[in-house]
Amino acid sequence: MKTFLRVVCRLALLSILALPCNVLWAQESESALHDEMEAINHNFRLVGRQYTDSAQKASTLSLVADMQKHAEKARTLTPPKAEKLTGDDQTKYVDTFHKDIDALLTEIKALQQAIASDKTDVAKAEIDRISQLKASSHKELGVGGGGKHHGPPPTSAAPPTPPAAPPGQ
Ligand code: HEM
Repeated sequence: MKTFLRVVCRLALLSILALPCNVLWAQESESALHDEMEAINHNFRLVGRQYTDSAQKASTLSLVADMQKHAEKARTLTPPKAEKLTGDDQTKYVDTFHKDIDALLTEIKALQQAIASDKTDVAKAEIDRISQLKASSHKELGVGGGGKHHGPPPTSAAPPTPPAAPPGQ
């Protein structure tokens, strides 16, 4: 029993000592931009889940407003990848980043208008456009290779294609 308690105490001490390392690692690997992106992602997922529910219209509009706020904040930040570049390469990267965020803001406004005017079909198209924009922009910028929040876009509810029938049937 004594040995067991000693092992437990040692393990507890080790985790306490390791804590500052974890915190430092997290601060180094996550940027302010990352936080804004995660926030956009979170709001976007919720919008995707509830935009068809008219009873939640006010809440959906508030989520879209949050997306806009975080996208505007993101635009003021420098992507970590840009900080590692210099000269023309850096200018080009930052210009692409701004162009894509501006396109995102345009789509977010269109989504807001669609929800405000109860145009569910238009809202769905906007949600799909934002998903596509996210994918194309991340590809263009070489980011988003696989964070914990990656998954199917909110409206990817299309049923899987059934397997092809064997020949002769
Ligand atoms: C269309 C304009 C967009 C641009 C220019 C953009 C740009 C970026 C950049 C530069 C990063 C890397 C941040 C870092 O290294 O710390 C990033 C990460 C991320 N973005 Fe975006 N993004 C866009 C749209 C979106 C959208 C619409 C979503 C969600 C709906 C989103 C979700 C995320 C997430 C979750 C990450 C973190 C991914 C990871 O670290 O693996 N982004 N984005």
